[in-house]
Amino acid sequence: MSASPTLLLCSETDDLSGLLGAFEAAADELCPGLRVALWPDAGVDDRDVVAMAGWFVPQGLPARLPGLQLLASIGAGVEHLLRDQALPPDLPLTRIVDAEQARGMAEFVLWATLHYHRGLDRALQQQAQALWRMPPQRPASQTCVGVMGLGAMGTEVARCLAAHGFAVSGWSRQPRAVEGVRCWAGDAQLDDFLRPLDIVVSLLPLTEATRGLCNADWFARLKPGAAFVNCGRGEQVVLPDLLQALERGNLRGAVLDVFEHEPLPADHPLWRTPGVVVTPHMASSASPQVIARQIVSNVARVRAGLSPLHRVGRERGY
Ligand code: OXD
Repeated sequence: MSASPTLLLCSETDDLSGLLGAFEAAADELCPGLRVALWPDAGVDDRDVVAMAGWFVPQGLPARLPGLQLLASIGAGVEHLLRDQALPPDLPLTRIVDAEQARGMAEFVLWATLHYHRGLDRALQQQAQALWRMPPQRPASQTCVGVMGLGAMGTEVARCLAAHGFAVSGWSRQPRAVEGVRCWAGDAQLDDFLRPLDIVVSLLPLTEATRGLCNADWFARLKPGAAFVNCGRGEQVVLPDLLQALERGNLRGAVLDVFEHEPLPADHPLWRTPGVVVTPHMASSASPQVIARQIVSNVARVRAGLSPLHRVGRERGY
């Protein structure tokens, strides 16, 4: 038994001190006696760490904590934790699943969809030339939007777009059914899914199957003039292929919210590429309170011998 059971907040890339207060409040209420510490804290005895919550935690660290019972991502994605080859095989791994976060994602994708559907991309280009010309307008039902990834977030996004009258399709690895959405599944149906789309949105998790998925061949399968919205992960896109598709005019434009290296370096060409809207991984996130409460209640669950909620299937990668 640990003398002072501790939850360690840990990231090599981000400052998590802003989460400390929410975690302490959640621990007081949901798991009394749990101490919360911020890595690296010289005062923490490795043997006391029962849970870690983080974003890009140092590889090999979880394996060195003998009492670790839970590893939790503070976000929806977990690939930053799964890259650690030394993760103990039976260590439960969880992620955040939050209805508000899904609604936030739906708002963001709705905005990006309207940007292309109403021709705001064209109006902005014209404004730079003081050109008064109305971009073509049409009803939402005539714009086909495809959502790749039909998990909790993708399903909310697809439903929201359908509720706004768009012709919505969804694609996922395993067959799914979403009311009002035409659903496709698996590699065999990818072409049929992509072909009619005016706007394609990726919300896919990063796995070995999705890394580099959006490459030259994939862009060539889109309808000429389609637009791309990426809220999945940057590593899913082969950037030189995206830039070529834009240059050739095969791709009308792209809204990119996620990048292989974040923050996107100031000298990165994407900042200045015509047709690209760069947003700083802002599409949606759960609030500190939700993150803290979900993770701390999972610590209480594992300490009571229960399985944590929102556990990740390691073999699937999400
Ligand atoms: C993510 C998040 O995983 O922001 O990208 O939650």
